[in-house]
Amino acid sequence: MNGNGNGNSELRSAKWFAPRDLTGFVHRTAIQAEGISQYALSGKPVIGICNSWSELVNCNIHFRGLAESVKRGVLQAGGLPLEFPTLSLGESLMKPSAMLYRNLMSMDVEESIRSYPLDAVVLLGGCDKTVPAQLMGAASADVPAIMITGGPQQPSFFRGRERGVGTDTWRYADDLRAGRMTQAEFDELEAGHKPSAGHCSEMGTASTMTSLTEALGMCLPGTASIPAVDARRSQAAEATGRRAVELAQEGPRPSEVITAEALDNAITLLMAIGGSTNAVPHLLAIAGRLGIDLTLSRFHEIAERTPRIVNVRPSGEHLVLQLFHAGGIQAVLAELAPLLHTDALTVTGRTLGDGLEGAAEPDLEVISRLGEPFDQAGGVAVVRGSLAPDGAVIKRSAASPELLRHRGPAVVFENIYDLGARIEDPDLDVTADSVLVLRDSGPIGAPGMPEWGMLPIPAKLLKEGVRDMVRVSDARMSGTAFGTAVLHVAPESAAGGPLAAVRDGDPIVLDVEEQRLDLDIPAEEISRRLSAAEAAKPKYRRGYGKLFLDHVTQADQGCDFDFLRWLPDEEGQREPYGFLTGWQGGW
Ligand code: FES
Repeated sequence: MNGNGNGNSELRSAKWFAPRDLTGFVHRTAIQAEGISQYALSGKPVIGICNSWSELVNCNIHFRGLAESVKRGVLQAGGLPLEFPTLSLGESLMKPSAMLYRNLMSMDVEESIRSYPLDAVVLLGGCDKTVPAQLMGAASADVPAIMITGGPQQPSFFRGRERGVGTDTWRYADDLRAGRMTQAEFDELEAGHKPSAGHCSEMGTASTMTSLTEALGMCLPGTASIPAVDARRSQAAEATGRRAVELAQEGPRPSEVITAEALDNAITLLMAIGGSTNAVPHLLAIAGRLGIDLTLSRFHEIAERTPRIVNVRPSGEHLVLQLFHAGGIQAVLAELAPLLHTDALTVTGRTLGDGLEGAAEPDLEVISRLGEPFDQAGGVAVVRGSLAPDGAVIKRSAASPELLRHRGPAVVFENIYDLGARIEDPDLDVTADSVLVLRDSGPIGAPGMPEWGMLPIPAKLLKEGVRDMVRVSDARMSGTAFGTAVLHVAPESAAGGPLAAVRDGDPIVLDVEEQRLDLDIPAEEISRRLSAAEAAKPKYRRGYGKLFLDHVTQADQGCDFDFLRWLPDEEGQREPYGFLTGWQGGW
């Protein structure tokens, strides 16, 4: 014990545990009541393990075991591990959308970190929204943090063909609708659909966000794509626990790791892997938490200079399992090095470039050379115009090349219910050249901006063999999905965006090369229709839903709450974190 009687007074946790007074007594006995000895509190770094385990989130169902591995690492390095739960977000089960609750989980993570005696935190995340929510919360709390992600699940097989959980399922679902597959075959497909723990096995949103975590420098190098069930993931969790103890004593903090340069690195990787469009609002939100001025234009600039060098579904042929065996994200980053800020600091205390030393020689079937890419341009493109004044995004790497420049008449669906009622109608007035438009599906309209943006191909066209059409909406799309879908139109229709003015038959022009998305009617007519439109009724009048509707920002701002963005004090500094009570007896 040191001079104040209880170990290392430099640690944040010492404010709780070191004082030899009634306050310290109460704090120490709260831990001792769990059967943890006084010795464990004698100045050892306290490492929080922020666990998104839940039986409602199949992707994270192995996290109890992973947390044990982290604890082992913390103990090896002389720290005290304390695991805590937060809200968890299951992509498949939460309605209307897990995105509605991303900000809520981020607040839970932030306040749990801030309010408890933690010197560093290990973030355990893995489904689509848990990773961004944890990064957002940790960025705002700004206590040293490191992430270990859950890893991709094992691929399933159907009639001898390896398949991913999303990309291939969308195809089989269309086969069922078109009569090319029987219900019995579809049931057989269901039985073996998700053969293990772990997140979706393609480069969907979860794999994208876990990969970007490595580019951001927020996890140990080489850990992003280790399969969920591989023993090396547990070993990585153990190493993460050990590193967390060092982080507690020497940093860096998230604000020192997630910089403008680190975000550039993450966007570069997003483009190179043909990653999920959902990463765009997540990165915008993370940047907003740290006061970094990131805009859609930066995504476009980086997309233009970054080729796609990863051959993984839905933009390519393989799964994340093959990407791991081909060298993993570390090998991808090594190949991208000329386009990266390799001097960016990471949670290792060293640079991103340092972490690429020893990266494997890539298997060129899965990871190409920078000079011989699978696509010349990055996977995600930004478009703007009279239909999306504040921008929209499209995953061009998973779209039909011949539709990236297209002009066609709109077929408008007022909302998801209207779509459900009419899309199978054999009399629907639609051709393969039509542009399917879905509105009322954005952050406020849906609400929560669900993944409705891959509108189904109308049944009558599907039967004629049509596989893709231009679709435009203010919704998002599953990261595992494919097709020529323009998403995240901002402002959304419920916020008075021009999407609300589109009528059946209006010409819509998409030109991804020219970054253009226009409603090709006179501007005065768009204004006239918008001023005549009735304001939509709010979907929630109370509770969290009301808070969401009152404060959510549009897609081009990241859909975060306006009050959660970084707020400097009078001197332009970060707000202080941690033990804020003046009277420390206020337990
Ligand atoms: Fe959890 Fe896809 S449903 S990652």
